[in-house]
Amino acid sequence: MTSYRVRALPGLPEVRPGDDLAKLIVAAGPGLVDGDVLLVTSKIVSKAEGRILAATDREAAIDAETVRVVARRGPLRIVENKQGLVMAAAGVDASNTAAGTVLLLPEDSDASARTIREGLRDALGVDVGVIVTDTFGRPWRNGLTDVAIGAAGVRVLEDLRGGTDAQGNPLNATVIALADELAAAGDLVKGKAEGLPVAVVSGLGHLVGDTDTDARAMVRVAADDMFRLGTSEAVREAVTQRRTVREFTDEPVDPGAVRRAVTAAVTAPAPHHTTPWRFVLLESPESRLRLLDAMRDAWIADLRRDGKSEESIAKRVRRGDLLRKAPYLVVPCLMTDGSHTYGDARRDGAEREMFVVAMGAGVQNFLVALAGERLGSAWVSSTMFCREVVRDVLDLPEGWDPMGAVAVGHAAAPPRDRPARSPESFLTVR
Ligand SMILES: Cc1cc2nc3c(=O)[nH]c(=O)nc-3n(C[C@H](O)[C@H](O)[C@H](O)COP(=O)(O)O)c2cc1C
Repeated sequence: MTSYRVRALPGLPEVRPGDDLAKLIVAAGPGLVDGDVLLVTSKIVSKAEGRILAATDREAAIDAETVRVVARRGPLRIVENKQGLVMAAAGVDASNTAAGTVLLLPEDSDASARTIREGLRDALGVDVGVIVTDTFGRPWRNGLTDVAIGAAGVRVLEDLRGGTDAQGNPLNATVIALADELAAAGDLVKGKAEGLPVAVVSGLGHLVGDTDTDARAMVRVAADDMFRLGTSEAVREAVTQRRTVREFTDEPVDPGAVRRAVTAAVTAPAPHHTTPWRFVLLESPESRLRLLDAMRDAWIADLRRDGKSEESIAKRVRRGDLLRKAPYLVVPCLMTDGSHTYGDARRDGAEREMFVVAMGAGVQNFLVALAGERLGSAWVSSTMFCREVVRDVLDLPEGWDPMGAVAVGHAAAPPRDRPARSPESFLTVR
């Protein structure tokens, strides 16, 4: 039977800047043999490496260690730190350190682990693995556990993909976080308060060796991270990342994603408890072509009535092919069945405007939700200028007013940056 033993290593003194951790461990008489794995609390590594800051302002220390804010709730910040770790307060720690000081995480915990491993090899002639651990909270799970933030001489991940389980089922996604499992095992005997910062796991020598040993490999890359942001941050990002996309790839649009966006759209505010939004989904190429050809003819007729030359008409019409190149079109329509009639122009005008702005809210919801589905969109006005033609071609009820058209697709390129807009330019405080 496979088994392992885990024990805390007693006898380590209080660690100070400049200390050689391997020497301190050797002096404690660790009884190490080849194939052992040491779990070393990052706190003592930070202390030995002088990562101590006289910090009257812990927040400023967190700022300095932060690369990206993932989520913020009141004073609590979950951030990505310089080592790529996503964690509370960037790992800046005010516990187990002298008052008025904070500990920063080691600058390169993999390198720290290598130094300790080599020091033990030099002093004792043993081939051991070393894992630098830190205590993390986790999304979806209560309670803290130790994880590996640095490693040397021990396999950190076990990739079982391509193999089969005991029943012969293929394993498609199974990569075991070995180094985190070892870190957690060590935490069972180290404890937080007892001053036992090092544990030793024996009996798992098959994990010790020189390949695949950087804990850096355990950090999920952003592209594979389905939870890159906290909830509030994702909502804000969805709003600010909605940009008009005018060039699309050929990749088809998932009709289910459009329906999910419509579900979000129809939660917009609207007057008199009405639901004035309708969305016409042009899912067949024929329906799109029929609409766009009819709109082009109507536009040409308008331009001729304006007295434009045939040459300038042809030029304008050629320019208007954004909708033609989109893989999917939606015509949002306003339905004002629930509006009131007052009988005077001022109030009837205001009533109509009320519904039109509610339509804008619905379409904005729709575009933001599409952005959340990673779909680009362009809301263009053209159908508003030939409503009868659109109703006729699409066979829509008399009361449906087309409010532009939304081109939907996968963006061919990221949108051009635009300068951030300061709220101060847009507001007046009374
Ligand atoms: C009611 C409305 C009509 C629009 N019509 C057009 C249009 O006909 N053609 C176009 O290219 N963009 C159109 N736009 C998109 C704007 O040009 C676009 O929102 C603006 O350039 C800001 O860029 P952004 O959406 O990336 O923030 C329209 C937007 C709205 C709200």
